[in-house]
Amino acid sequence: MAADVYDKVFQVAKRRGFLYPSFEIYGGAAGFYDYGPLGAALKANIEELFREFYVTREGCAEISCPSVTPEEVFIASGHVAQFTDPMVKCSQCGEGFRADHLIEGAGFEGNVDVSDTTAMDTLILEHKVNCLHCGGRLAEVYHQNLMFGTEIGPGTRRKGYLRPETAQGIFIDFPHLYRYFREKLPFGVIQFGRGYRNEISPRQGMIRLREFNMMEAEIFLDPAEGKGHPDFAEVTGRVLPLVPKTTGERTEVRLGDAVKDGVVRNEALAYYMALTYDFLVSVGLDPEKIRFRQHLDTEMAHYANDCWDAEFLSARFGWVECVGIADRSAYDLTSHAKASKENMDALRRYDEPKEVSRTIVFPITKVLGPLFKGKAKAVADALAELDPGTVTPEAAVTVSVDGEHLEVPPEGYEIKTVNEKVAGESFTPHVIEPSYGLDRILYAGLEHAYEEDEAVDEESGEKEVYRRLRLPARVAPIKVGVFPLISKEGLPEYAQTVDRRLRRAGIPTFYDDSGTVGRRYARQDEIGTPFCVTIDFDTLGDGEHKDTVTVRDRDTRRQVRLPVNELAGWVRAKLRLAGKHETVMPAIDA
Ligand code: ATP
Ligand code: GLY
Repeated sequence: MAADVYDKVFQVAKRRGFLYPSFEIYGGAAGFYDYGPLGAALKANIEELFREFYVTREGCAEISCPSVTPEEVFIASGHVAQFTDPMVKCSQCGEGFRADHLIEGAGFEGNVDVSDTTAMDTLILEHKVNCLHCGGRLAEVYHQNLMFGTEIGPGTRRKGYLRPETAQGIFIDFPHLYRYFREKLPFGVIQFGRGYRNEISPRQGMIRLREFNMMEAEIFLDPAEGKGHPDFAEVTGRVLPLVPKTTGERTEVRLGDAVKDGVVRNEALAYYMALTYDFLVSVGLDPEKIRFRQHLDTEMAHYANDCWDAEFLSARFGWVECVGIADRSAYDLTSHAKASKENMDALRRYDEPKEVSRTIVFPITKVLGPLFKGKAKAVADALAELDPGTVTPEAAVTVSVDGEHLEVPPEGYEIKTVNEKVAGESFTPHVIEPSYGLDRILYAGLEHAYEEDEAVDEESGEKEVYRRLRLPARVAPIKVGVFPLISKEGLPEYAQTVDRRLRRAGIPTFYDDSGTVGRRYARQDEIGTPFCVTIDFDTLGDGEHKDTVTVRDRDTRRQVRLPVNELAGWVRAKLRLAGKHETVMPAIDA
């Protein structure tokens, strides 16, 4: 089979130090990848870009929470019960598969309802799907939880899981974060970090990993304010390629109209779709190969009531999700409040505190003291917690203290109405979540940036494949290749000084003095280096080009001559640009 773009990208990625299969000397393990030196630099640059978008531009705060998480968290969040994929095993060889993927692979063109195992059993029979490994008969479909379990502590063990999303840490910290933001909504919080999912059949390289990198933002807002965004006006005229669940067809529609017509449920979702589009284009994804597809009700995660996936078009895999933008409503905060009994609410403040009257169960402590002695305080607190509507006036009432039921006589309490000042009304915030999968975005960036053509080698005259990664300068791992024209007569020393000065100015470089300059250009083009600087005899001479260098642009191959003192400033200015595509979001000072 001829190598497709995926193979070609991986050959370059492995040979040049972007990606290595993990644990290779022990036979590898499906679903894991190492980032090599260039891959780690590219990943860090994408993370930095995400910070620029979400922290600097949007004003979100960044936090960092543990990956190992106690079980209670994922019981409350619903992941223990519901974070599953449909699995089917071969009854002969025992190999496991994602049932929905097998059915789709067998040519079924409808939407597989992953919640319905019986329907999937029927589709497997109808499409005569057998084990891909040995051709054996498949057993019944069941739901397999995807979380990696673990135990916390060597002694008294507490059950835990490796987090399948970074989001839960942010939800749990909501009360702290609410105070940090001076009790004002909306606000956003981001987190970078590893997510872990024991994927059933990770056969798609970087697309389906068992340990992967997430960049998530949780935007907390007041639903009574219509789930808007203060800067929505900036994006109303933007046209994004949308595939709504109602039609399943791609439509190009202005975001303002999409919200007005109810295609996109609210402004906040629409705003983050526009921001996501700009982010993906800034990373180097081809704008023509990005679309937003709305989840069908049957594929929605258990916590979401609406979700749009940003998808990129891959030559091998077709449309692949790389970002999920979900409306999680009040699901998570409500679940954690219920399970932890902590207050996860916010306050909708009145302009002026209001005087309200409230009926309460009022404990009479001078009666409770002698009656309940050491437990009197707990009994009083339990009485105060009671809903007065459930108490029959002038009758004994039973309260529960540390699991013990205690009867309070009618003289131990009083039902009365009190007036109090209230600052506002308490409510549970809603959450809009843009959840970015860094590894898929990075792979998409490499695939869309990859170009090749045949070139004739200057020395041998033989035909060779010339490869180029048109990565935007902003994310390229190396920004400048620095070459002495030849490796003698003072040129290497001068070039090394230029190289050191650039690095000290914060610009990652690669110094190379081996082979012809043409070969050195080709090596840098292959790893996406946007600029190459050559130091020649004119640089060293006394003529008009003294202390100037040539700078060659990767994409246009044009060269300019610049004074060496201006080089760092020139490169830094170029790095501010998005690269081969314009970023469409208006700049802050626009
Ligand atoms: P899929 O349907 O492809 O399994 P998902 O709907 O489960 O993806 P989300 O739960 O929305 O994905 O996760 C948010 C983002 O995290 C995804 O858009 C994707 O980029 C990334 N992601 C999820 N699972 C994986 C994985 N196994 N490997 C790499 N990235 C992943
Ligand atoms: N936090 C979104 C997801 O994991 O799908």
